[in-house]
Amino acid sequence: METKIVRIDDVNVQKNDIAEAAALLRDGGLVVIPTETVYGLGGDGTNPLSSKKIYAAKGRPSDNPLIIHIATPSDAENFAYTNELYYKLAKAFMPGPLTVILPKKDTVPYETTGGLDTVAIRCPSHPVAHAVIEASGVPIAAPSANISGKPSTTAVEYVIEDFDGKVDMIIDGGACEIGLESTIVLVSKDEGLVLLRPGAITYDALCCVCDNVTISPTLEGTLGENERPLSPGMKYKHYAPASQLILLDGDDKNVIEFLKNEQKVKKCAILCYDEEAELLENRLLLPIGRRGDLKTHAKMLFARLRECDSLSPDIIYAHIPDKEGLGLALYNRMIRAAAHSVLKV
Ligand code: TXA
Ligand code: MG
Repeated sequence: METKIVRIDDVNVQKNDIAEAAALLRDGGLVVIPTETVYGLGGDGTNPLSSKKIYAAKGRPSDNPLIIHIATPSDAENFAYTNELYYKLAKAFMPGPLTVILPKKDTVPYETTGGLDTVAIRCPSHPVAHAVIEASGVPIAAPSANISGKPSTTAVEYVIEDFDGKVDMIIDGGACEIGLESTIVLVSKDEGLVLLRPGAITYDALCCVCDNVTISPTLEGTLGENERPLSPGMKYKHYAPASQLILLDGDDKNVIEFLKNEQKVKKCAILCYDEEAELLENRLLLPIGRRGDLKTHAKMLFARLRECDSLSPDIIYAHIPDKEGLGLALYNRMIRAAAHSVLKV
């Protein structure tokens, strides 16, 4: 299949490109769209065949449900049974990086929800995503645009690497602003929230809107043999670069000492803070922003993990993040990318 790649900088000027993407989606095609979190592999969420195509292109097990993307929060009425808490969340965080799980209506096929009676709803703030959804007139089912198991894509070059020839269109919207996937919450029967996946909308921010927020026990990714995760995606291998990633737990001085020694004997790729770059040997260093600048770490993480693959290191090292604020989302992605390998130094 020939994939059309289009750069869209201004949705008001490039109306024809938006209309073309919208028509492809309505006709059951696949279009990769930029969002404020990561790129999404989009198809018509009400069309079972589109959802099947998404699973096939991604190499994703079909019991792992898709998020549907809507243009305005009230569009959720067409696809889900909403409640007061949904609208409180919408008022506070939509459009933006929040996904809410609600009971689904019959308009959403089981092929999209992986057989579940619930549906994940998100209203993205990225102008291109918004314009495409609105012009298509359908909700866009879109998982992160990466081959299953690989890190999500936050730059178009990696989207092209994974999907050129497998989708109808790729829209290049530049680098994704946030860099980590949306926060996912489940609205429970007693109008409480369960945090299923941390993201840029933090636990503390959710607590400002709802006084009953719990963190899913599966969030750190450890599940017993017979346990069923609330969010099916939690059970799969994720974000993994080709080489082993190890997270280092210790104060910065010890981490630098350890890394210096390792650099003498191994080809290590190192995700370091900017200010550490001059302390280490100038080989395979991948700075992720200044210490404590979590927004930059989040924005750079997935691209850096993908860069590691092109360097073919023996091993990859990174600092283990603190779990405060946005740190919880970074911790969640990194601990899974590392398959829980943590070394105390
Ligand atoms: O930021 C994002 O959310 C990006 C952009 C493209 O919007 N999308 C994204 O989709 O990260 P995906 O498919 O890679 O991750 C969605 C996660 C999966 O772990 C899936 O299991 C979970 O959401 N999920 C989807 N529907 C669900 C449902 N009904 N109940 C529980 N979990 C659900
Ligand atoms: Mg994903």
